[in-house]
Amino acid sequence: MYYSLRTSQTSFKKPEASLCFIFKDRNLERSDLAFDRANGRCLSRARTGFDCKADTAEVTSVIASSGERILLVGLNEAAELNPDTLRRAGGGAVKALHKMGIATVRLFVNAELQKRCAAPLAGRAFGEGLGLGAFSFSEFKASKPGVRELSIYSDAAEFSAGVSAGLDLAESTNFARYLAATPPNVATTTFILNQARALARRMKNLRFSAIQGAALRTKKMVGLINVGKASESPPCMIQLDYQPKGKSKGTVLLVGKTICYDTGGLSIKPREGMRGMKYDKCGGMAVLGAMRAVSLLKPKCRVIALLPTAENSISNSAYRVDDIITYPNNVSVEITNTDAEGRLVLADGLLYGCKTFKPDAVIDLATLTGGVVVALGGFCAGYWCEDEKLRERLERASIDSGERLWRLPLNDDYRDMMKAKHADLWNSAPTRDAHPIQGAAFLSYFVDAKIPWAHVDIAGAAETEKEKAPFTPGPTGFGVRLLASLLKNWE
Ligand code: BES
Ligand code: ZN
Ligand code: ZN
Repeated sequence: MYYSLRTSQTSFKKPEASLCFIFKDRNLERSDLAFDRANGRCLSRARTGFDCKADTAEVTSVIASSGERILLVGLNEAAELNPDTLRRAGGGAVKALHKMGIATVRLFVNAELQKRCAAPLAGRAFGEGLGLGAFSFSEFKASKPGVRELSIYSDAAEFSAGVSAGLDLAESTNFARYLAATPPNVATTTFILNQARALARRMKNLRFSAIQGAALRTKKMVGLINVGKASESPPCMIQLDYQPKGKSKGTVLLVGKTICYDTGGLSIKPREGMRGMKYDKCGGMAVLGAMRAVSLLKPKCRVIALLPTAENSISNSAYRVDDIITYPNNVSVEITNTDAEGRLVLADGLLYGCKTFKPDAVIDLATLTGGVVVALGGFCAGYWCEDEKLRERLERASIDSGERLWRLPLNDDYRDMMKAKHADLWNSAPTRDAHPIQGAAFLSYFVDAKIPWAHVDIAGAAETEKEKAPFTPGPTGFGVRLLASLLKNWE
């Protein structure tokens, strides 16, 4: 697939392809008619042909008498046009362009499209689709055929600027997807640490640091120490810090579960349950991707990212069921299931982050429970947030990015489920009832009650087994664009 997609400020002398948008319930738009006439009416003929239905993301390709290749990209019904349609259309278009080996494309943005969706928003969504649809993970394949670069030009300036912003967001998302897809024998804790350091070096306005080795002990990060004990790859807390130029409008803390591989530990996962557990680092990878986006968007708030990073493995030094560990806030936790490890390492991040940075808001992202996959599938992430203002911000960011959220309850009945016999809490209650909520309830004991906090369980949304336009099977980078939207205009 393409590894580089860019908008061009200058038009091409002879683009390899031109792209027009069509609606199911409309004829060719006026602005496209002149082009149609100049090309022997091949567009109108294709438009009325049997195989062109103008369904969302459907691509019809025609070759004009001049030899020019023209793609008609379907946008379904005009009245129903929304950014999601454009995102999917971008995915369809980029796949077709790549298949045809095209390196330069000119976009025609008709008036109907601009009337139905504001140009910057429409362009951004289409650009996101182009970039997201272009992702493939071929690192470990011998042949990587095809054109590698796509240059896009449109004389609709606002739309084009939108495409450019969308491509940037997609690139940050694809960075997260690429790391998420990297297998656990390569993407060890140290590998992820080096990737975060390299990102900070590239982006200039991010500062990298890490807590590892003896420092984990002095800072009493008992979750990381215990979950990471059995692995040859040492656990660590990765930190990235973005500081705005000028006066800061607050501090937001992001915490991303980064379990490089989750065997379940001694409470070992069954055969089919272990497959895909390289994706247990997706929360942290989404936070890394979001930090890349933040560094480009330059919001007015400080953003701190913490990635509690470990491998949940098995050896004779593994932490056990029945162990009791005590966090620096004096809350003790009885381990009842070593497979409920995510909450243990997130607790380190939440406690340390709240105490050290006194943030105005905290958001954690984690592939925390299989239960949320059962409940919501891959179409929404589950989220918990008891603060109305933060909830509003998240809901708005969710609509803006198309990354859907569904809220679940968190009250004292659920918090009581986490109270244990031999310690203050257990990491998993004896019943599986409400187990995604148990995860959220557990985490709530490690967040300062005065700080607005949201927990987002992305276990279902982080990965797709089937094609889910504009995504190909594999990691989706869920959360990168949600967090970017949330932070972009933080006041
Ligand atoms: N990493 C898993 C959650 C998961 C499951 C993510 C499926 C993606 C797909 C997590 O660490 C885990 O094992 N959770 C347990 C929690 C239980 C022990 C309370 C689960 O979901 O069963
Ligand atoms: Zn687990
Ligand atoms: Zn896990």
